Parts: sequence; C-alpha cells; structure tokens
Amino acid sequence: MSNYNINSSEDYKRIYDESVNHPEKFWNDLAKDNFKWQKHWDSVLNWDFKKPEIRWFEGAQLNITENCLDRHLINKAQKTAIIFEPNNPKEKSEHITYESLFHRVNKMANVLKSKGVKKGDRVCIYLPMIPELAISVLACARIGAVHSVVFAGFSAIALSTRINDCNCKIVLTSDGSFRGNKILDLKKIVDTALKDCPQVSSVLVVERTKTKIHLEKGRDYLIESLLNEASQDCPIEVMDSEDPLFVLYTSGSTGKPKGMVHSSAGYMVGSAYTFKNIFQYKDEDIYWCTADIGWITGHSYIVYGPLLNGATTLMFEGVPSYPDYGRFWEIVEKHKVNQFYTAPTAIRTLAKESIDLVNKHDLSSLKVLGSVGEPINEEAWKWYNINIGKNKCPIVDTWWQTETGSIMISSIPNVIESKPTYATLPFIGIQPVLMDENGNEILENDAEGRLCIKYPWPSMARTIWGDHKRYKETYFSSFDNKYFTGDGSYRDNKGLFRITGRVDDVIIVSGHNLGTAPIEDAINEHNLVAESAIIGVPHDIKGNSLFGYITLKEASSASLGESLKKEINQLISKQIGPIAKLDHIEFVSGLPKTRSGKIMRRILRKIANNEIDNLGDTSTLLNPEIVDEIISKVLH
Ligand code: PRX
Repeated sequence: MSNYNINSSEDYKRIYDESVNHPEKFWNDLAKDNFKWQKHWDSVLNWDFKKPEIRWFEGAQLNITENCLDRHLINKAQKTAIIFEPNNPKEKSEHITYESLFHRVNKMANVLKSKGVKKGDRVCIYLPMIPELAISVLACARIGAVHSVVFAGFSAIALSTRINDCNCKIVLTSDGSFRGNKILDLKKIVDTALKDCPQVSSVLVVERTKTKIHLEKGRDYLIESLLNEASQDCPIEVMDSEDPLFVLYTSGSTGKPKGMVHSSAGYMVGSAYTFKNIFQYKDEDIYWCTADIGWITGHSYIVYGPLLNGATTLMFEGVPSYPDYGRFWEIVEKHKVNQFYTAPTAIRTLAKESIDLVNKHDLSSLKVLGSVGEPINEEAWKWYNINIGKNKCPIVDTWWQTETGSIMISSIPNVIESKPTYATLPFIGIQPVLMDENGNEILENDAEGRLCIKYPWPSMARTIWGDHKRYKETYFSSFDNKYFTGDGSYRDNKGLFRITGRVDDVIIVSGHNLGTAPIEDAINEHNLVAESAIIGVPHDIKGNSLFGYITLKEASSASLGESLKKEINQLISKQIGPIAKLDHIEFVSGLPKTRSGKIMRRILRKIANNEIDNLGDTSTLLNPEIVDEIISKVLH
C-alpha cells in the first residue's frame, strides 16, 4: 500500500529505484493492493519490443468501472464524483454523487445493450462536454464495449473516417453543443458523416441545445426516454487484462489517423497511480482538468484517473472566453478548485487579457497547477505561477502522449521540484533515454537527443487499431528495442528533462497534435492545387501556427489571392475541422526537393522563420534556384 502514495523526495527515490530494479515485483504489489480484481494474474509482464508485443497482468480479470464506481459505494456513495459546470454561468451547475453516477452509468449501459451492443463492439461517442459524455464512456467500459470518443469539433469527414476505421455500429451524439454564444449542430454533422457509414445501425441522441434535428426512422433515437425506462442495475462484464478498453485517434505522419488501442488493466493502473501522485490529490479536494474528454487528457485525467481514486472531478462544457476571459477563474472560485490542470495555449490566451479578470476572483483554494500538451514557455510559466498560483502552488509540467496513456515525465508537488520549461524527472517505472542520430544512447547529461523509453509501462498503447505493422514502424523501428516518442528532449546537468518539441511531421497547434500529411492531403484536393507543404511557425498564443507553401497547377491562379486561400481553408475545415486551418498561405512556383523527391521542410521552416542566413546545405537539392524565389516571396 505504501508505494501508492509518494509524499517526499526520499519516497520518490526509493520507489523509483524499486520500480526500475524490480519492475515486476513492484507493479505486482502496487496492482494487487490498490485495485479490485475478479481474478489475479498469472504473470505480471510479457514483452518483446521487437514484435512488438506487450502484455501486463496476463490472466487477470477485472472491470475498470467496478474500480471507478462500485468500490466507492461503500464509503463514498454520497460524495460528489462529477461537478458539471455548464457553458452558460446562469445555468445551474450539477453535482453527481458516486451513487447517482453509478446508476446513470448502469442505465446507459442497459440502453446500449438494448441496441445490441456486446463485449468487444466499438461505440463511437461524439458528444460535447456534458455528463452524458463521461457516463457513456463508463457505460461502454461496464459492458466491455470499446469506446472511441471523437472530439466534437471534428468535421463530418474526420468523424466518418474514425467511425469506419474501427467499424462502429453505434454512435452517441447530441442535438447540438454550446460553445460560448454559439451552437454547433452536432447531429447534422453526424447525419452527413453517416452517409459514408452504412454499417451504423443506431444513433442515440442526447438533447442538450433543443435545436431542431432530423431523426432517421429505425436508426435514430432520443436517448432520454430510453434512459428513463432502463434499469439502474447492470452487472459488470468481466474483462481480461489485455482486452481493449478504448480506441482514441491521434494524428501521425500519414493522412490516416492512428487509432491507439488501450488495455483494460494496465491503463487502469497507470492512469490511477499518476493521477493520485502528480496532482497530490487528497480526499476532499476538488480537481479540475480543462481538457475535452475527446482527447487523451480528458480520458485519463477527467474520467478514469480521478474516478479510480474516488475523487471529485469537474467537467466544464464551455470555453475560457465566455461570457468573458475570467470564466476559468470564476469557476475556480465558485467550486473552490484545489488542483487545476490546463494547456499552455489557454494560459497564453488568458495572460493577454486584463489582469483584473484574474484578480477579482478568490483563487486561494488552489494548491497545484498543471500544464500539458506542448512545451510551456518561460513567460507563460511565470504568469501562471505568479498570477494564478500566487507563488505558492507547485506547477506540474506533465509530458506524455495519447500513446503513453498516462503522464510519463513530470515534477510532483513537494516531491520533485518544478523548474520552468522542464518536465523534470520520470514518473515511477518510466525509463526515458536520449538517443543520438546514429542510434546510440546518449549517456551524459547536458545533452540533447531523441526521446525514447526503454522499458514497458502498464498504460502504454498496445497497438494501432487494425494496423499492428504501423504501430511497429512508428514507435519501435527507429531505435533498436526502444519505444520512440517522436519528441526531442534536452537533459540538463542534473538529469532533468526539457521537452524541445516534435522531431517528426507532427505540429502541435494550441495543444492539438496535427499531422502535416492529412492537412496537405486536404489542400491537394483543391482542383487548382498541385502540391503543398505545411510547416509550423512559433505563435504567441497557439504555440505554433500553420504555414502552408502551395504550388498551383497554373501559376496564374495565384491571382485569385485571398478567395483561393479562403477556399483552401474551407477544404481543410471540411476534411479535418477548423483547428487545422492555415494562418499563412504562400503560393510558390515550386517546393525545394531532394533528388529522391522528398520535400526539404527544414529549408521551408527556416524561411518562414526568417532564418535565411543559416539555411544549411542546399547543394543536394534538385531545384536549388527555387529557394531564392521562395525567400523573396515570403520575406518580400
Ligand atoms: O510533443 C509532445 C507534446 O504533445 C505530444 C502528444 O500529443 P497528444 O498525443 O495529443 O497528447 C497530448 C496530451 C498528453 C507529445 O509528443 N506534449 C505533451 N505534453 C507536453 C508536450 N510537450 C512538452 N511538454 C509537455 N508537458
């Protein structure tokens, strides 16, 4: 039991050493003592990164919702599990107790069953940040269905691609979604998406915005009456440790999103253990993560991590700017939030607004602040520390990924000191290493390299849905016997890690992971476009913004100027969603290419960033003359 709570730097050192020196014993004891199992495992870990094959707690049986819900009914039935804060501050917030959540999850589970959902089936959840989103996630888990939550800001095409990739037959959605003073017609987007998804047999609709919707007879159902009629009891489906719990899509360096598959047992252990310690959650605390459940942060640190620990987790439906830019701080004051977890892009946005919007709220309940999704720059870190934390709240800069399932490198309040812009030290059981370009491990400190992990951890994704080969190629082929993160990192002379950013074709915009390939594919669909290359340039608020170099089939089309740029951005919105729109578009007559035809993004990146004195070797280019033309266009 003792290893579950890390309370001092001595604890950290001792437990970390145990976890890497005797990992199987360590995880065996931790998992055995802190979770409810239907059956104990036969072996703690079987792994082979070459195949790759990773199995934790093989032979064990469990249901994660028994750990999130049932076991808390003994002592915490009347404790608030979820606080729902609506988009509009005039609407009342809702406190859902563990007992009530348990019943609501069971009802939802029974509705899913009545629509034929069985263990192993995939269910697509396309809902706004309302309680039904968390409830349907848990309902799937209860009956052993694999949930695939799609962020409700994605376009119809992005949605249908994801529904089809893992062959979902059921979709959960709402009539609409409130976003500040706007309403997004989610059901309409689903209707469009489903034209390409003939296998979907049922659509269950939550009424949230009361907007008029079309209900397809025999396929679409308003969920409320079904929930009212359903029983509030639903037995758990007993799951094997390695049965998939969920699929969650993330971008990669090809146009096809990767459906990362997470396991039942390992994910449970990892998300629970990290939540408890990295946020130093204490029993009466109110914890708030501002992410959307459509991303991994919401899966692990709004739903599973907190509920596994019997915590109170706040879900916010709205946006930080509505009705004004003080909304986050108003919520912190209203609900006396103790742990607050957000993204650097939100911090930078709010730091630009009047400080009065912060200072008029009482933030004295705050104990811990968190950051996730991209490197946090020093200025934003300091603003957060001084104005929100009042210099008394440790900031945990948590580095991790959709693929890792839970936090991998982070400071721990009062255990591992924070350092601005540094994620600092690996969490228990995590063995990060830096690799050089020749595939050798960099052993010294004060060095930079590619960040890899050399030993399995329980919450790591096990495969990519339907494409194990791609899983192997993406994560296990760059470096021998190691998981490659795709990130670069610096390690200082004390061994602290500072994540420097992606080293592949993924750009993090406002904390969202965007692959260049799907955006380029979308642009190339325009009938006037010949070719495109997207790069990221630093942006004050978004971290990075997207800069597109586009060549046209006929140079004269460039005279269409702004209207063509608008059409291109509309295409991107349609294919992916508004988050992937380009801030800057430059029409050029060619792209710099190597003799093998590969676009030299390095050069394009430097030009966009006005670093033309240092373009590096351009002699290997097939078309070196294009570089001057691009420079003169971009830099006038
Ligand atoms: O580049 C890293 C960046 O976000 C990537 C993972 O994105 P995603 O799978 O969408 O998950 C985001 C939430 C966990 C990483 O490869 N990233 C995430 N957290 C940090 C970060 N970069 C620097 N510092 C962080 N704290």
